[in-house]
Amino acid sequence: MKKNFYVTTPIYYPSGNLHIGHAYTTTLADVICRYKKEDGYNTFFLTGSDEHGQKIELKAKENNLEPIEYVNEIVLNFKNLWKKLNINYNKFIRTTDQYHIDSVQKIFSFLLEKKLIYLSKYKGEYCISCEEFLTKEQIVDNKFHVVCKKEFIIFEEDSYILKITEFKTYLQEIFKTDFLEPENRKKEMLNNFINNDLEDLSVTRINFKWGIPVIEDPKHVIYVWIDALSNYITALGYKNNEKNLMDTFWSKDTEILQIIGKEITRFHSIYWPVLLKALDLRLPSKILSHGWILSKNDKMSKSLNNVIDPLKIIDDFSSDALRFYISYNLPTYKDGNFTEELFIESFNTNLANNVGNLISRTSNMIIKYFDGQTPEANIESDSLYKKGIETITNYKKFMNEYKVTEAIEEVLKLGQSCNKYIEDIKPWDLEKNDKIDELKKVIKILHNNIVIIIYLLKPILVENTEKMFKQIGVKIDDVNFDSINNKKYSIDKISSREIIFKRI
Ligand code: ME8
Ligand code: MG
Repeated sequence: MKKNFYVTTPIYYPSGNLHIGHAYTTTLADVICRYKKEDGYNTFFLTGSDEHGQKIELKAKENNLEPIEYVNEIVLNFKNLWKKLNINYNKFIRTTDQYHIDSVQKIFSFLLEKKLIYLSKYKGEYCISCEEFLTKEQIVDNKFHVVCKKEFIIFEEDSYILKITEFKTYLQEIFKTDFLEPENRKKEMLNNFINNDLEDLSVTRINFKWGIPVIEDPKHVIYVWIDALSNYITALGYKNNEKNLMDTFWSKDTEILQIIGKEITRFHSIYWPVLLKALDLRLPSKILSHGWILSKNDKMSKSLNNVIDPLKIIDDFSSDALRFYISYNLPTYKDGNFTEELFIESFNTNLANNVGNLISRTSNMIIKYFDGQTPEANIESDSLYKKGIETITNYKKFMNEYKVTEAIEEVLKLGQSCNKYIEDIKPWDLEKNDKIDELKKVIKILHNNIVIIIYLLKPILVENTEKMFKQIGVKIDDVNFDSINNKKYSIDKISSREIIFKRI
């Protein structure tokens, strides 16, 4: 039976258009999901938009629009970006979708009935821009939120409260496992929140309207984060009439990966597990909390107005080039940079000079020396052949740990070895000296490794994969993890001398 894999991104606020930071998370999810599919999993990929809350209400007002009119327009832009980036999601959830609203209200009623939610007064410092109650550590100059540098408000009103503190032992237990990555974020959560002053959470608001009303007390709307976090299960049909995918994608054997940016780790590693526990549902297998893309030294963000538009990068270069930079040059465990210089340098070094060059010089030799027909030869005992097979194993090991940068690094190393092999062995001399058997072997080894390289980059370079395979006479549908390990694909005569990944 096929194993199941469920991957999610955060649902982004349609408070403005998306930038490279959002493209980062979503591309990672897409790449990992495409890999899992190649690896034989039954997959489901969810993304969407988080449309309620005070920030969106204010933004709409600034634009003289009703909130729904405002978000409708921006959500179209989200979808357009994902299309251009070749993001192959299965479902796009909007928190304004009726099925989601129904579920959230039922979830709330259920928690109320279980007395995990109670009515009280709540006082705290609140950042509207981040829709977040702040702790002392998050406040600077008694006035500003350290992340977005916006002024917070003092929030004091009647509110329903979720009993987070009742789950303290549960949280301490799950923090002994590796459900949250990287390790240092786990320490931060334990030290700053769980072991220190874990507090109950205010989960309703009365001072604005743009949200899901509490059925039992409709002057309250449900706090945007309770509404938002629930999306990961309401999208699968939890407590609603959508097609019920919970049994498949939230079952105990499913591999569930949730990718987020580090600033929302508290919500996903504390409040979300509490919510799931309260609903008697399993934890995700992994919350992968990646670092930020910085601009100078600040987080790239809408509120700081320092963003790069991914559509511009796609138009100027290509979707594959952006997907490659994100997947390779931005390892998840640390913050990273995105500048046009770095982007171009990486493209030229890795795609033009390494992969692209290897493909074109090898296909040129096949055309020149063998009239386009890749020669057969016995190559199993050759060390570069073996390196190709090892690369597959190493790549899979890293991808299975969601270490995409490291996985790609293995592929690029194989490409470098092949290019160096050509320079060292000088196939043109072999041909000159009539060492045809040796030449056949060299070409076959290169060809074999190129098939491996192209296939392993398939989840990333989705627009170029077929073209690259064609360049070396291989049909994309013939290639899978089994056939690259056993050379079980047919090879057509080749003739094209197209350059793939021209230097920028
Ligand atoms: O937080 N670097 O939405 P949001 C890396 N609606 N990733 C970045 C980034 C950057 N500079 N900027 C944004 C919300 N991201 C909530 C989420 S989920 C139930 C609700 C990515 O529009 C990263 O994934 O502020 C981050 O967590 C997310 O966008 C925040 O998007
Ligand atoms: Mg944000």
